[in-house]
Order: sequence, then C-alpha cells, then structure tokens
Amino acid sequence: MQIGIDKIGFFTPNKYVDMTDLALARGVDPNKFLIGIGQRKMAVADVTQDAVSMGINATKQYFAEIDQSKVGLLIFATESSVDQSKSASLFVKKALNLHPQVRTFEIKEACFGLTAALMTARDYVRVHPHHTAIVIGSDIARYGLNTPGEVTQGAGSVSLLVKANPSILTLNEGHSAYSEDIDDFWRPNDSKVALVDGKYSTQVYLEFFKKTFAAYQAEKGWMTRDFGALIYHLPYTKMGLKANNIAIADEDKNVQERLTETFTASKQLSMEVGNIYTASLYMSLLSLLEHADLEANALIGLFSYGSGAMAEFFSANLVDGYQKQLPLAWQEHLLNRRQRLSVAEYEEVFTAALNEPAEVELTSDEERGMWYFAGTKNHIRQYCQVK
Ligand code: HMG
Repeated sequence: MQIGIDKIGFFTPNKYVDMTDLALARGVDPNKFLIGIGQRKMAVADVTQDAVSMGINATKQYFAEIDQSKVGLLIFATESSVDQSKSASLFVKKALNLHPQVRTFEIKEACFGLTAALMTARDYVRVHPHHTAIVIGSDIARYGLNTPGEVTQGAGSVSLLVKANPSILTLNEGHSAYSEDIDDFWRPNDSKVALVDGKYSTQVYLEFFKKTFAAYQAEKGWMTRDFGALIYHLPYTKMGLKANNIAIADEDKNVQERLTETFTASKQLSMEVGNIYTASLYMSLLSLLEHADLEANALIGLFSYGSGAMAEFFSANLVDGYQKQLPLAWQEHLLNRRQRLSVAEYEEVFTAALNEPAEVELTSDEERGMWYFAGTKNHIRQYCQVK
C-alpha cells in the first residue's frame, strides 16, 4: 500500500519586512542579506497570530474538501507552543469542528517536529488504512532585534493530509536518521526568543546532511543523479544552497544544472517568508511542486534537520496529476495581500507580540474568515474568526 501526502495547506501572516529595509536600518550591505543569507522578505506575526491560529488557517484551506469522519489522528508539531500542558491541536480540533474520536497531541524536536509527525502519521495509516491523519507544523522564528539571527526570522504554517493512495506524493520505505545531544540552538522556558550558536549550527547542519545523505544512498544504492530533486530544511536559503552544492559536487554538469534548478524552485517561498521552523522543509516541498517542472513519479529527496540535534533523510515519489492538488492561487493571494512594514513598525509589532497583554480582548486586521488569537479570558486562550 502506498501512503503519503494527499493535501497541502499553507498560511503566513499578513505583514512582512523587506530585507533591504532591514539591512539599511542595521547598517549592513543589503547584499549580505539578499545574497549572503539568501532572503528577500521575512513574514512578521503580530500579537494576534500564534502557532495555533496559523495552524488552523493552514488546515482550513483544504479541510472542507476532505472526508472529515475519516481523520483518526491530528498531530501538531511546534516549537512556538502556547501552553506547557494542553496540546495546540485541541484548539485546532475545536476550531475545525473535528469529531471527538480523533487521537490528538502535540510534539516537539525543533524543526524536525513535522517530519516526526509525518512519519508517525504514515505508520498510523499503515495500520488503519481506511483512516487519514492531519499533521501540522506551525512556528514563529524569533531571535530578537539587532541579533545576527534577526535576518533569519519568519512565521507560518504548513498542514498535510496523510492517507493511503495519496494524490500528491507517496513516501518511500526506509530513511536514514542521525541524532546527537548538542547545543547549536535552543529556547529555554524563560526565554521568548531562541538562543543560538549560529556558525556552529550551520556546521552541524551540514555534517548531519552529509551523514544522513550518504547513509541513505548506501542503503538504497542510489546516486545523487537518481533524484529528480533534492530539498532541504531552509532556516535561510543559503543554508540549503550549501547542502545542495555538497550533494551535487561530484556529478556531471547536466546533473548539477538540473538539481540547481530544482533547488532554486524549492527556495522561492522561503525567500519570501523566512524560517518557519517545523514547516520549513514542507514549505520547500510546496515551492518545488509549484515552481519546478517535474515528471510524474519523479524521486524527491528530503533532508529534515532539527537543532539539538536530529536529522533524517528520506524520499518520496510524485503522483501523476499532483499539480491539480496544489493551492497555488491561495498561496499567491497570501503573499500578495501582505503589508510591507517599515523597520520601525516591525520593531513595534515584534515588541508588542513578545509582551502579549493579559485578559485583554484583541482584534485582528486579517481578512474575513481568518482565525486569530483574541486574547485570554481567565488565563484561557481565545481563538476567533474575523467577521
Ligand atoms: P552572520 O554573522 O551574519 O554570518 O550570521 P556571516 O557574517 O558569516 O555572513 C553570512 C554570509 O553572508 C556569509 O556567506 C558571508 O560571506 C556573506 P557564507 O560564508 O556563509 O557563504 N556576506 C555577503 N554576501 C554578499 N555580499 C555581502 C556580504 N557580506 C557577508 N556584502 C547566521 C549568519 C546564519 C549564523 C545567523 O543569521 C544565525 O545565527 N541565524 C540563526 C541560526 C540558523 O539559522 N542556523 C542554521 C542551521 S541550524 C537550523 O537549521 C535549525 C533551526 O531552523 C532551528 C530549529 O531546528 O528549530 C535554526
């Protein structure tokens, strides 16, 4: 039985900062951010968009089209959790009016979280072939104003429907995993922003890529040239470019050009949105499917990395007709509707979001129908839809 991704939903908030504006405000040559880091814009979440509301908005995009009675599992992967105890998935379940028999919980391992959820969902569907699973990755990357990590922030969510005989891609058996307890990036309970050993994190990412890619190739007997595309967790697009250059280094020019082209297709959304932690790899997937010209059954290699650190390389094959399932118009609308913030406005929004007011009813400037965080009542988080 083939199991894989049947639907992809995406969401990113309605505000962004332009990288040239940020570079000039920080006294940096814009080419450092545009070329050296490889980002054009970065999504900014105001106080009314959190991991939960973004996850609802991403899932809502396809939820009306699916057989909701068949959803047996709902997993929410995040490192921007809103509660130490209650799962973010329960807020989503309520907002979507999903039936109460669903097994639902939240999981965490930095940016690896959504891959962990996807693999758990695959195993669940294997055992329950008539059921489906929803897995959501949703995050706000915050490093703080005037930090080296500032240019690699972002906000957004990707939601996937996993089922048997899927219409977008089928996951292949086997994977290569690698983990080590290291301190490259973390966010302690008393900090609202991530702490990071930036340069070290980039070295570890590449080391883990080399290890897992080599082990996967050895297990399958596949060469780099056998892949129709290689995609990566993209904390910023230059990071993925470095990994891709390692992957193609020993290939001939045609293969190098082909896999550079597919990598370029996979980074388009990330350049506009920034790092969305758990969902970043899956935003690369969406970007690849929307921007590359790939044959049915093309083999896609996926590299998932979560700081701390845990990495996994796995692969999937495209299903014939996958293009019809993509949310292209919606995703273009999401990017086109965004308001460009000045750096001063961004700093204000950033600071306000870090200092969420208690027991105040919040209103959202999102468009009608979007879900948002409406403040707390008796310490209980409230989620509403814009009327
Ligand atoms: P930095 O200090 O700005 O780095 O920090 P830099 O000075 O080395 O410059 C970056 C690049 O810009 C260099 O290119 C420069 O040469 C180039 P590279 O050597 O890397 O090829 N550059 C220029 N290029 C063109 N024109 C110019 C110019 N000037 C310089 N004028 C760093 C960069 C990424 C470390 C920082 O932004 C950071 O700490 N970011 C956060 C950490 C991060 O994203 N790490 C990635 C790996 S870890 C990961 O992926 C997991 C994560 O997603 C979390 C999770 O798992 O949950 C983060």
